[in-house]
Amino acid sequence: MNVARIGVLPGDLANQIAAGEVVERPASVVKELVENAIDAGARRIGVVVELGGKKLIHVDDDGEGMVAEDVRLAVERHATSKIRRADDLAGIATLGFRGEALPAIASVSHFLLRSRARGTASGAEIRVNAGAIASVAEVGMPEGTSVEVADLFYNLPARRKFLKSDAAESAQISRIVTQIALCYPEIGFTLTSAGRTVLECPPVGALRDRLYQLYGDRTDLIEVRRDTGEVTLMGFVAALAEQGPLGEPGGGPTRGPQNVFVNRRVVRDRTISHAIIDAYSVASIKERSPEVHLFLSMPYTAVDVNVHPTKAEVRFRDQSYVHEVIRRTLGDALGRGPAPEWQLEGPRTGAPAAVTLPLPTGYAATYPSRWTTDAAASTPPSDLRTVVPQDAPSPLRPLAPGTEASVPAIRPMIALGQFRDTFIIAVDAEGIAIIDQHVAHERVLFERIVQRLTAGRLESQRLLEPMLVELSPGARQGLAAHAAELERLGFELEEFGGGAVRVASYPTLLGREDCEAAIRALAEDLEGLDRGAPVEEALRRIAATMACHAAVKANYPLTAEKMAHILAELRQTAYSTICPHGRPVMLRLTRREVEKNFQRI
Ligand SMILES: Nc1ncnc2c1ncn2[C@@H]1O[C@H](COP(=O)(O)OP(=O)(O)O)[C@@H](O)[C@H]1O
Ligand SMILES: [Mg+2]
Repeated sequence: MNVARIGVLPGDLANQIAAGEVVERPASVVKELVENAIDAGARRIGVVVELGGKKLIHVDDDGEGMVAEDVRLAVERHATSKIRRADDLAGIATLGFRGEALPAIASVSHFLLRSRARGTASGAEIRVNAGAIASVAEVGMPEGTSVEVADLFYNLPARRKFLKSDAAESAQISRIVTQIALCYPEIGFTLTSAGRTVLECPPVGALRDRLYQLYGDRTDLIEVRRDTGEVTLMGFVAALAEQGPLGEPGGGPTRGPQNVFVNRRVVRDRTISHAIIDAYSVASIKERSPEVHLFLSMPYTAVDVNVHPTKAEVRFRDQSYVHEVIRRTLGDALGRGPAPEWQLEGPRTGAPAAVTLPLPTGYAATYPSRWTTDAAASTPPSDLRTVVPQDAPSPLRPLAPGTEASVPAIRPMIALGQFRDTFIIAVDAEGIAIIDQHVAHERVLFERIVQRLTAGRLESQRLLEPMLVELSPGARQGLAAHAAELERLGFELEEFGGGAVRVASYPTLLGREDCEAAIRALAEDLEGLDRGAPVEEALRRIAATMACHAAVKANYPLTAEKMAHILAELRQTAYSTICPHGRPVMLRLTRREVEKNFQRI
């Protein structure tokens, strides 16, 4: 048919469509309204919600307010006071700029906006129901703005059905208010949910004070700061828990919220998340969400905020620079120098990766400082020499030439035996160590896998008779999505049909008997991995899971040779104090502590 079929959508329908992007849930409404209040220069912002924001969201502020004419315009599509021309997009200094939040929200709710501009005698209010203006009137009110959004999505039952429980929606709201409040310490925030005060933060002078108001006294967070001239980074990040004295668990960094701000805007950014993972990855592989609160500032022109309707994503002009600043700053703060780079392109010539890794200086406080290399280090304490079986791969054997210098200075230890078939008890001249055999071996294998990956791919073993492993659809998808990475690690897998995966080859490192359990664990692990996660992250996870499955188990008797072997390998591992999953490898009782307890000093 030769009839024109294209029509321009009526405004309220266009608004509802926009609402689909901007207003996903009550928390998105709260975010937009609070951001508007901040843009209006508010010193105090109050948020009240009922039934997780489904029944009511009320945000009021003491900002500059609007004159009556602007109150009418504010609910029009593409109406904004924040930018005027295309050039302005290059350097946006306000949180809003799209002019679509208010009309979008008003198109899917019972909406009431009241505002009185500073220095004027009275205010104006506008009521909008599902996008249709119901009334406009003059009102008496204090200076500032108040917006009430009732019955969100009442006209879109399908959307309303997708909302979670009141409790879950409330939790999202507190999260976003907490995040925004963290970044604006000079503004006072209150949040009341179902009549209960959830958050109350009077204005304070510094980020540190606001952090305290929101998260309490956090001595476990380290302050970071760097100013490169182009980018300023400051923040508070989870320390790597060091192993405490005997009996106190150590381990990976504190899990917790990851609050990231760019030019005082809450953002979700892959580059930044990746840099954070990178900085922590040396100590911990699985622990993917160490608590961080990071505040980045850079010229407005160095970052494009016009990427996504919710403005939660940004694009950096120089992405790799931002990545590097974060990676290094966190790496330095964690006291280990930057994490080693994963070399994924082609084989590396020269020394193997583990040897060229930078020294984990952060551990200096615990291990290497007590195990410093000196002349005595290469000689075992003489009274213990006899314990080592003569034919065992001795931990005392000199290292291959060329490796000595770059291996961390850890004194050789001698295994005395096992405790409960799970821990190796070892000694050296400087103390006694209890080593978790599984965790230690896992660490060692992980390093070895990474080293080999750096050089190319892992050796694999072909099965004479392919093995079938039945898996859930999600698990199969997890494997299929990372087939290439799995292959680099030595797995040859294919869909078999009937809910099974056919295994043709597996990594030699893994025993045939560990293979099935490892594949199941990998599938589960990869299923949980973010879709766009970087390849290194997938590889790292696969390596960690493989190491875990190939490592000796707890409750498993070890021969003296095997113990000596694990200790020797551990000694050559640059990052030997924490396993790839973030668990501590060993507890150490120093000579001093022993002597003190026996009152010998
Ligand atoms: N709390 C407020 N105080 C003062 N002015 C406001 C407030 N909320 C909205 N406005 C005005 O309404 C306009 C439209 O708001 P909005 O739809 O969120 O678009 P944007 O924030 O992208 O400009 C803003 O540009 C601003 O001028
Ligand atoms: Mg706005």
